[in-house]
Amino acid sequence: MKKLHIETYGCQMNVADSEVVASILSPYFTISDSQQTADLILINTCSVRDNAEQRIRKRLRELVALKKKNKQLLIGLLGCMAERIKERLFEEEKVLDFIAGPDSYRSLPQLIEDASLGRIAFNVHLSEKETYDDIEPVRYDGNGVSAFIAIMRGCNNYCSYCVVPFTRGRERSRDPNTIVSEATKLYHNGFREVTLLGQNVNSFYWEAPNKSTDFADLVEEVALISPFLRVRYATSHPKDISDKLLNIMAKYTNVCHYIHLPVQSGSNAVLKKMNRVYTREYYLERIRKIKEILPDCAISTDIIAGFCGETEQDHQDTISLMKEVGFAYAFMFKYSVREGTKAAEQLEDDIPEPLKIKRLEEIITLQQQLSLESNTSDVGKTVQVLVEGVSKRSAQHLFGRNSQNKVCVFPKKNHKIGDFVYIKVSKCTAGTLIGESV
Ligand code: SAH
Ligand code: SF4
Ligand code: F3S
Repeated sequence: MKKLHIETYGCQMNVADSEVVASILSPYFTISDSQQTADLILINTCSVRDNAEQRIRKRLRELVALKKKNKQLLIGLLGCMAERIKERLFEEEKVLDFIAGPDSYRSLPQLIEDASLGRIAFNVHLSEKETYDDIEPVRYDGNGVSAFIAIMRGCNNYCSYCVVPFTRGRERSRDPNTIVSEATKLYHNGFREVTLLGQNVNSFYWEAPNKSTDFADLVEEVALISPFLRVRYATSHPKDISDKLLNIMAKYTNVCHYIHLPVQSGSNAVLKKMNRVYTREYYLERIRKIKEILPDCAISTDIIAGFCGETEQDHQDTISLMKEVGFAYAFMFKYSVREGTKAAEQLEDDIPEPLKIKRLEEIITLQQQLSLESNTSDVGKTVQVLVEGVSKRSAQHLFGRNSQNKVCVFPKKNHKIGDFVYIKVSKCTAGTLIGESV
């Protein structure tokens, strides 16, 4: 059989999509780690910020040399960049043989055949229905312990800075029966953790003749598969995170006490311009509720520095919100204009680059301190860790995550990947808990 090499950039949804692609192409290709010996290379791309796209363009330039050596090699570009830039990519990146947007992966066998015959091959059609719910993803690159399950696709929120609604199309949920059966199968195949994925999982909704399922119901159904299957999810939009969900999280010990709740900014003026539809006060109320119902829950966030019109006071509002919440972790970015979005068309990208960088650095420095404080408060505690692999730094150590999604490193002893191990935390860094099994 021919060999397929897939490279994935961007978010967890893209990782899940690459596994769907591997499944669709499994009758024709085996997966290969090596780009050197591959017959087909697929690059699954991200458009969320300009630097994400620049990285991919650099990668495509590197592939020109490989293609000169191997004239039969086909190169296809998938994902959000395919959707955003469409056919124009053929002119800009001569190395490409075909392109396919996120909702057209079922047509890949045809696109590949057309490309191999030298025909122009692209499909960037967005669907209102496609969820790939009948396709069993091939977990070709995982650890055999932890897997992603896409429960919905697309996004209807249109945050003013964000390209995702344009690259991923309308929001749609997947039939919950197919989600539960996929998770059950994973459990029987030795997996011990699933992460339910969507751009805004809290708006998951499925209506069947006698039953409707919202996100909290879905989490409960998955949690009931086995107490030894951990359940995580990402991402929550603050506007939709319900008390019902928090109560389900408290009820089942296998639902992890970790919530990624992107705030983006601590300033009401900026949140309004971002079209996030909540206020700072509302966000802090949700945090208070999380802490009340789930006192040991870790909360992480996404923050954008230097959005259009952001004043020094707005920036300080973000700083003070970060301190008030005490995030365990944060993904922090400087604002990057995305063509076609409302912010690009109606707002001015008026924060000079050096100031964006300065504010981003302040945020990163503060978060480093908050992460260290959060981890320091765990020293002395015993935490349950699902073992995911061997530590990168030492073959004598394993690593895994606790319920709060914190990475823990500990001596190997007789423990194996896939075991649940209790670790007494003895010290930490801002990024890692360190301890020993008890
Ligand atoms: N659906 C998720 C996040 C998707 S994108 C949510 O609603 O939170 C991941 C993160 O990238 C966003 O949370 C945001 O912080 C960041 N991001 C998105 N567009 C961006 C842009 N144009 N510039 C900088 N950061 C951006
Ligand atoms: Fe983008 Fe907002 Fe949708 Fe998240 S919720 S994907 S930030 S538009
Ligand atoms: Fe990037 Fe698309 Fe995900 S833009 S963040 S790969 S949905």
